[in-house]
Amino acid sequence: MYLVVLYVFFQQTLIYIKPPNKPALPWTHSINIGVFSQMYPTLGDDRFRLVDLRSIQVLDSRGRPTVRAYAYTKGGGIGIATVPSGASTGKHEAVEIRDGGKEWKGLGVSRAVSTIETTIRKALLGVDVRKQAFIDSIMKTIDSTPNKSKLGGNAVIAVSIAVAKAAAATAGLPLYKYLGGPTARLLPAPLMNLINGGAHAGNKLDLQEFMIIPVGADSFKDALRVGMEVYYSLKDYLKEKYGADAINVGDEGGFAPPMKHSSEALSALVKAIRIAGYEDGVDVVLAIDAAASQFYDEAKGKYRVENSEMDSNKLLGYYESLIEQFPIKLIEDPAAEDDWDTFRLITSKLGCRVLVVGDDLYTTNVERLKKGLELKATNAVLVKPNQIGTLTETIDFAYAAARKGWEFIISHRSGDTEDPFIADLAVGLGGGFIKTGAPARSERIAKYNRLLEIEGELGPVGLYNRTIKPRC
Ligand code: PGA
Ligand code: ZN
Repeated sequence: MYLVVLYVFFQQTLIYIKPPNKPALPWTHSINIGVFSQMYPTLGDDRFRLVDLRSIQVLDSRGRPTVRAYAYTKGGGIGIATVPSGASTGKHEAVEIRDGGKEWKGLGVSRAVSTIETTIRKALLGVDVRKQAFIDSIMKTIDSTPNKSKLGGNAVIAVSIAVAKAAAATAGLPLYKYLGGPTARLLPAPLMNLINGGAHAGNKLDLQEFMIIPVGADSFKDALRVGMEVYYSLKDYLKEKYGADAINVGDEGGFAPPMKHSSEALSALVKAIRIAGYEDGVDVVLAIDAAASQFYDEAKGKYRVENSEMDSNKLLGYYESLIEQFPIKLIEDPAAEDDWDTFRLITSKLGCRVLVVGDDLYTTNVERLKKGLELKATNAVLVKPNQIGTLTETIDFAYAAARKGWEFIISHRSGDTEDPFIADLAVGLGGGFIKTGAPARSERIAKYNRLLEIEGELGPVGLYNRTIKPRC
């Protein structure tokens, strides 16, 4: 008996005085209770204690290195999160820490991986993983910068999501229910990006994304089928009209045809909707992400789009004419990320007809949203967890918008991974919209498939969001 007590005491002491071991690979992980475990009271259930935190470098859909984190609880729950990465990244986003140097063209994330396995691991071991806000605030405090540039937004968001997943797994709950509670059941309408331009494609289209939203469907399953059928029709149509080159795809799986004008892309979408047997404007509506920071000339204060130079009023006229010609119900980032005045102008003129969405404008940041709400800069927001770096801040942001009656849209990144996290987040938060690319390429399909799974599990109580109604 004495021997056993002595042995346990000796083991624990060793753990307290030893620095963390050289990180073990996740599949060989050992369970340790760390130095901080005694400092944080649990909610009375030891199963939720974080007993290990690991990380490795993996690849995203563009083949670029990214961070994956593994969180383990005492009760055997495992949460695995893999971080996506943008191309048309907003300048106010949380900073991704990359290694620089020659290897991986400077894009390696071994520093972020090691931050997780040392600094963050040490701070969080022993904490109850259900204390999401507390965990996120510890990481924010250690980081102490406005843009997570010390720990790295990529390290912090990986841990933040991994602990949420570990908590759900330990509780034996599907993630959307853990995040949204027992009544979470609204399936989001998908914004499916069928034609790619801008920074996501090698063609001449200035606007970045041309999307469809199947709002007339009765269920998510039907919406996905309708979206797929339009995608198939579009593929045939583009191939016939522009040749085989036109069906090459961009970063998000949408086609990147050799088109020059937005109206060409939008009419191709309308044609595809009709060929597939649906009514444009009723069964399926259109959406664009202009990602206007990409074609803004800051020095001149002008937008270079469709081969002409536009000031705010001309730009407004341009969007207005597109809305008049096509059944567009949503425009994302119609102006550059710091051009609040143009956002305001566009929202004041078009905000009753379309959702005007801020993506690069807000970068999922509540402080920037406050300004937007005050100015009525938009009437909707895009929500990208890795733009801000923690799950708590992501949820705060979405709900701050929702409280004012603004729509929020949970979104992927152009460089994404097989992690379907945002599907559960969308249902959990119940916002009613998800933006996760074309219905092609496994990293996009992973989210659609997860939504099918969730809808199947919810059965008849699941609701599909058919409403797209701008508030003005
Ligand atoms: P990004 O693009 O992931 O490259 O930033 C997506 C978007 O702008 O919505
Ligand atoms: Zn965008």
